[in-house]
Amino acid sequence: MSLIPFDDRDGVIWFDGKLIPWRDAKIHVLTHGLHYGSCVFEGERSYDGQIFRCTDHSVRLAKSAALMDMEFPWGPEKIDAAKKETLRVNNIVDGYIRAVAWRGSEQMGVSAQATKTHLAIACWTWPSYFSPEKRENGISLRTSHWRKPSPDTAPVHAKAAGLYMIGTMSKHAAEKDGFDDALMLDYRGQVAEATGANLFAVENGVLKTPIPDCFLNGLTRQTVIGLAKDFGIPFEETVIMPEDLGKFSEIFVTGSAAEVMAVGRIDQKTYTVGPITRKLRLAYENLVRGKPLTAGDA
Ligand SMILES: Cc1ncc(COP(=O)(O)O)c(C=O)c1O
Repeated sequence: MSLIPFDDRDGVIWFDGKLIPWRDAKIHVLTHGLHYGSCVFEGERSYDGQIFRCTDHSVRLAKSAALMDMEFPWGPEKIDAAKKETLRVNNIVDGYIRAVAWRGSEQMGVSAQATKTHLAIACWTWPSYFSPEKRENGISLRTSHWRKPSPDTAPVHAKAAGLYMIGTMSKHAAEKDGFDDALMLDYRGQVAEATGANLFAVENGVLKTPIPDCFLNGLTRQTVIGLAKDFGIPFEETVIMPEDLGKFSEIFVTGSAAEVMAVGRIDQKTYTVGPITRKLRLAYENLVRGKPLTAGDA
């Protein structure tokens, strides 16, 4: 795989209030966020130059920082404006925006009362997260042995960098076995989500999704639930156990990066890309580009 390293690209990055050359957007190795995981972030997409649910992402970033007890002096208007400016100056139309906030180098140790919060915003052109073949047939998930922690163990509703170490280990293990991503169970053994996307399932025409009580209630998840309601698709937020997975006719995942992505396989069980997945995927693709839902979608 040939990758362009993320620290060696052209463009500008918004860094603590200023747009600076991409390669100069650096932090010191003795940064609290790096050592102790005091770091929160957002991942969002722009379509035709417009950031989808821009303010909702800015609000969530501030909320994640608050959940992590981090000072956060930027209001949503300021973050929105910074994201839009960064996108415009970099000339990105269909892209991905990454805002990240972290505790700095002012203090090193578990206690970090003297640290300042820093904020950076980068963006780049990013087509689909998965290949066209995966889009057509669905991605494969392998159940991880790592579990999503309980709400009294970790700040599970924050989009906190530290929570992703479980995701990275799980995804690597899945990839080693030839799967695209991991299916995460929670601390009770209930089906939770993928490593960077929420999960939906269809049973007898009813759309089901796990209750987001120990993982991120994704903005895409909320958008898709709204679309399902608009279409009159019966919908239920419910407990899904691993043994329920055999009953479902369709599975898909949702996320700002993944968008609406069909799942073709979980462990040994295969699924086809069914009508509800297709309908919601198309409706989502239209919505993010500001196109109205058409009769064909419904
Ligand atoms: C762990 C996890 N769950 C769910 C989601 C989906 O959230 P959203 O739809 O807000 O991007 C993401 C992506 O941000 C994620 O990283």
